[in-house]
Order: sequence, then C-alpha cells, then structure tokens
Amino acid sequence: MVSVVDPVKGFVEVLLSHLALTCVLLLACFAAVRWYIRDSHRVGGFTQKHVFITGCDSGFGNLLARQLDRKGFRVIAGCLTEKGATDLGAATSPRLKTLLLNVTDSVSIRRAVEFVRREVGERGLWGLVNNAGRSVPIGPTEWMQLEDFTKVLNVNLIGVIDVTLQFLPLLKKAKGRVVNVASILGRLSLIGGGYSVSKWGVEAFSDSLRRNMHHFGIKVSIIEPGFFKTAVTSLDLIEAELKRLWAGLPNDVKDSYGATYLDDYMRIQSFSMNILCCQDISKVTWCMEHALTAQYPRTRYGAGWDAKLLWIPLSYLPSFVSDFIVNVLLPSPKGTRKS
Ligand SMILES: *[C@@H]1O[C@H](CO)[C@@H](O)[C@H](O)[C@H]1NC(C)=O
Repeated sequence: MVSVVDPVKGFVEVLLSHLALTCVLLLACFAAVRWYIRDSHRVGGFTQKHVFITGCDSGFGNLLARQLDRKGFRVIAGCLTEKGATDLGAATSPRLKTLLLNVTDSVSIRRAVEFVRREVGERGLWGLVNNAGRSVPIGPTEWMQLEDFTKVLNVNLIGVIDVTLQFLPLLKKAKGRVVNVASILGRLSLIGGGYSVSKWGVEAFSDSLRRNMHHFGIKVSIIEPGFFKTAVTSLDLIEAELKRLWAGLPNDVKDSYGATYLDDYMRIQSFSMNILCCQDISKVTWCMEHALTAQYPRTRYGAGWDAKLLWIPLSYLPSFVSDFIVNVLLPSPKGTRKS
C-alpha cells in the first residue's frame, strides 16, 4: 500500500513547491512592472517650471542646462566664470538665463537668490540642482595641509548647504525639488583629501533635508556618479596638485615613501582612471532630469556601470573587503613594502 501512496504524495509535494516558486516569480515580475510604470510617470508643464543649476561652466551642469533648455524648462544657470556664462548663453535659447555665482561667497549666493526671485515670481522655484564641485587636491592624506581639506569642503559641502538654505523659501513656494550631486566617493573613501569627506557630508545633509522637507512637499534626490570624464577627474589638475603636495613634504616624509613613489602613484592612477572614466556624461544628466521631471523621483541615483555594479555593491560589504581592494589599486610606500 505504501508504495502506492508515496508517488502521489511526492507528486503533490513537487506540484506545491513549483506552485510556490511560480507565485514568487509572478509577484516579483508584478512588482518590477509596477515599479517601472510608477518610475515612468512624469510631471507636466515644463515650460512653466524654473530650474536653477550651479556649476554650469562645464561638465554635468553645462550639459544639464542645455538638455533642460531644449525640453522647454526655464533654466537659470549659475557659472563661476564670465566665459562659462557667455559660452553657455550663446549655445542655448533666449529662455535660458545665466548669472555669475561663487558658492563659497554668501553674498554672491544672496544676489543669485534675488535674481531668481524676480524670474520666478509667484510660482516659486521648481528645481535646485547643487552641481558645482571641485576635486583637487586628492591623494595620500599625510601629504595634505588643513587648507587642502577646507578649500574642497567650502565648495562641495558648505557651498551646497549655503545655497540650499538660501533657496529653500523659493523652493517651498513651488513644492519643488532639490537634486544634490554626491558621488560614489560619498559611499566609499577610495582616495584621501577633502573630496570623499565632502561627498559623505552631502549624503548626510541630503538625507536630513529629505526627511525634514518631506512634510512641505519638497523632494530631495541624491546623484551618485561613478567615474566620468569631467574637470573633477582631470588628470592634469590632479597630477599638478600631487606634484605640488610632494614638493612641499619634508625630506624624512619623502624618504618614508621612497623616491619613486610619486611616479608609481601617478602611473597607476592614470592607468585606472583611463579604464574607469566614462565619456558619456549624459548618463548622469539623465538621472538629474529624472529627479526633476518624475512624479516619483528616486532618493538615490547611481550613475554609470562602475557605480551600479562595482562601487555601490562594494560599499555594502565589510570594511576588510573594501580595504583590500583599495590597497590593491594603489601602490604601497617603499619603506612598508613586504619583501
Ligand atoms: C569665491 O569667493 C571666495 C570667498 O569670497 C574667494 O576667496 C574666491 O577667490 C572666489 N573665487 C572666485 C573664482 O572668484
């Protein structure tokens, strides 16, 4: 008798487990499709919406200003230099306005707020994109002086906080959006200097801003680009600053690294940067545009294959794993090398 019941029982068990698996897969598909549809809902009325972008002289900010201008947005582009402003103005529609902005100067920010207030009128400001940033100097921590940190922090972190605080009243009026450009280096300190420190700060500032301003209908998104070819990753700038730092080191510190360390470091760095840096910066501006136009903007956008597949997953792993990988990527000082 047992031999008759067993195959039936076995069959029912297999059927049930297949059924459970099918249900899980169906639910996952349903959730993915639902997410995709929700993610593709857009707000309308672009031509009545004002967006203010910092750091439009080059790179992500410059491309985003042109891209949103073509879509019909009313773009106000903050540039650090006259040349940046003139060139951008010449390449865009008369709708786009440029202004000079130095994010480390509160008075300059206040002037920008006044200009934008006159432009937006009663509508308020729909979008603020905190994009302006600088990277150098980046390199070994021991080579830095305090001001090497503060000059980066003043632009990338204090600048972002100052601009955001001063623009909040206009954003509140429009129940608008804040888009902050952080970096994968705001999740993983791959390199010493102020850059990673500032981007971790941008992540923290954006998280608290999002939670606080949610009640007023303001949405906050964080962009986390991987390595892209812009002024921030310019090897000429990075290497010139490394040489300056090295030249300022006392001889005993230089000796502890070894005479060839600077050259080894720059060689390995340029090798990795050439592999990693992606030319297509529209991957980043696509994320920014989504954050400004989607009905349900995402909280975080990883931009670039390296961010999505390598750095962000790595940032969730235990420190001993990321320490190992970062140490493999950079040369060891001569005095500490194991033979
Ligand atoms: C920006 O403002 C700071 C503080 O006022 C000043 O030290 C710096 O030179 C300015 N930068 C430029 C490029 O004007």
